[in-house]
Amino acid sequence: MNHLIIANWKMHLTLEESIRFCTSLTGKNYNNHLIISPPAPYLAYLANSFPSISFCAQNISHIENTGPYTGEYSGFILKSCNINYALIGHSERRNLFGESNEVIRQKAQNCLNAGISPIICIGEPLNVRENGNYKDFILKQLVESVPHTPVPIIIAYEPIWSIGTGLIPSESQLIEVCEIVGSFLRESQVANNMRLVYGGSVNLDNIKNIVNLKNISGVLIGSASLKYEVLIQMLT
Ligand code: PGA
Repeated sequence: MNHLIIANWKMHLTLEESIRFCTSLTGKNYNNHLIISPPAPYLAYLANSFPSISFCAQNISHIENTGPYTGEYSGFILKSCNINYALIGHSERRNLFGESNEVIRQKAQNCLNAGISPIICIGEPLNVRENGNYKDFILKQLVESVPHTPVPIIIAYEPIWSIGTGLIPSESQLIEVCEIVGSFLRESQVANNMRLVYGGSVNLDNIKNIVNLKNISGVLIGSASLKYEVLIQMLT
């Protein structure tokens, strides 16, 4: 399995459950293909206890430097905890916490400044998919939220209508989005080493078809990643 498997645990699992989960995964070499994104308070402990697994923050501050910013944590603070990835602009953060494309770009830039790979999430809501404006919507998210620097990044295409719904885009819909993202990156030359992953209702039944698609480098998994027995099968 050469694809990235990114497990987004969101606001689930206790520290004890997370330790048990990661302990069950040890003993194998995942060669940086498994990335777990647990609740933020567990990051330093898990990253230092389970070196064969990569860990990812679910968020990062839009403020770059240290200072009087209660409740925030910077890329440099994450890096000091051995964290090498951060999810940026997940639709739950965009919609529940009002994160704009501009804020997301700042967060992604802060990741890059600290040596962390940003996983920048994009994706349209159902009404935009249905009214046919999704290409412009996705392009605007890319133009406004991807930092203008030619550095390696990961883009996660997560259509909002797919997250937690059991609905996934058809093969042709996914291929079309790969083309939109690919041509944006080629034309703007912002990233010379971009990987595109898909997220939204990924499960044991559909993962193989998704990762077999050309230009899809992996998956971002929410609810199905919370069960050890399911995740371990997805890794094989
Ligand atoms: P889901 O969530 O797999 O539960 O649909 C994906 C995500 O929100 O990243």
